[in-house]
Amino acid sequence: MGKVISISNQKGGVGKTTTVVNLASSLAAAQKKTLIIDFDPQANATSGIGVDREGIEKSIYDALVGETDIKEMIVEVEPDSLKGYLCAVPATPELAGAEIELIHLEHREWRLKRAIESIAAEFEFILIDCPPSLSLLTVNALTASDSVLIPVQCEYYAMEGLGQLKRTISLIKQRLNPELAVEGYLLTMFDSRNNICHVVANELKSYFGGDVFETIINRNVKLAESPSFGKPALLYDIKSMGAQSYIALAQELIKRNSPVVSTGAEKILGGAGVEKNYFG
Ligand SMILES: Nc1ncnc2c1ncn2[C@@H]1O[C@H](COP(=O)(O)OP(=O)(O)O)[C@@H](O)[C@H]1O
Ligand SMILES: [Mg+2]
Repeated sequence: MGKVISISNQKGGVGKTTTVVNLASSLAAAQKKTLIIDFDPQANATSGIGVDREGIEKSIYDALVGETDIKEMIVEVEPDSLKGYLCAVPATPELAGAEIELIHLEHREWRLKRAIESIAAEFEFILIDCPPSLSLLTVNALTASDSVLIPVQCEYYAMEGLGQLKRTISLIKQRLNPELAVEGYLLTMFDSRNNICHVVANELKSYFGGDVFETIINRNVKLAESPSFGKPALLYDIKSMGAQSYIALAQELIKRNSPVVSTGAEKILGGAGVEKNYFG
């Protein structure tokens, strides 16, 4: 089964969509079949990867509120350069209405989970671009996910709101999805010349320790420009620091999610008849 990761932070403008688009395309470039689910009514991820919004007939809304099979909405992104490794389920502004419509529906917190069950095995990673709120849409995303990746912008009020997000995560764990894990906190828009960036980086590490990704996303103009060309940064300017930061993040994520490789010593000791529980 593919790993489902929500990219979430109820603050707007912290780099959620930029992370979804660029992390997904970097995973695809590493030949990990990846699906982006655009779950924000602003549909920035949809346009950021070059899906023509005018041409969308069915979107994630139809899978959530209607009973349409999500398979019908999967579009392949840039099939030439990423060789069929990157797909997306687009969003449209209609999704904003889903908030209210969901309230009256059965299993309202579970609708996204149910919708993606039938396709999870086709992908190695599924990244969900969450809206900037702790709404029923976000609850659906977190209920459907194995983990949550939290982008944190390097700015003065960065830590504000993280407590609220953590409380939401623990409520979801208690009531809806006991397996939900924190994939990691990701520093975004880092500028080493700016002192506040170092303050935020240190604070984040002292609060969340090993849960903070080693990879830091620098502020880089190519990351801001590439969506206007409907491209992830690695197809716009692969040498840019922005593209390279997200390639490094994809590598870190893949490494964190790989099963522990046998050390060799284990084999030798095991072969010498050492009890299995020696290691445990
Ligand atoms: N590392 C970065 N360097 C420069 N600009 C960035 C970077 N990350 C995001 N941006 C820009 O900041 C704005 C907000 O980012 P976005 O990913 O849309 O945030 P969110 O999805 O959390 O609202 C966008 O204009 C985006 O292009
Ligand atoms: Mg966004």
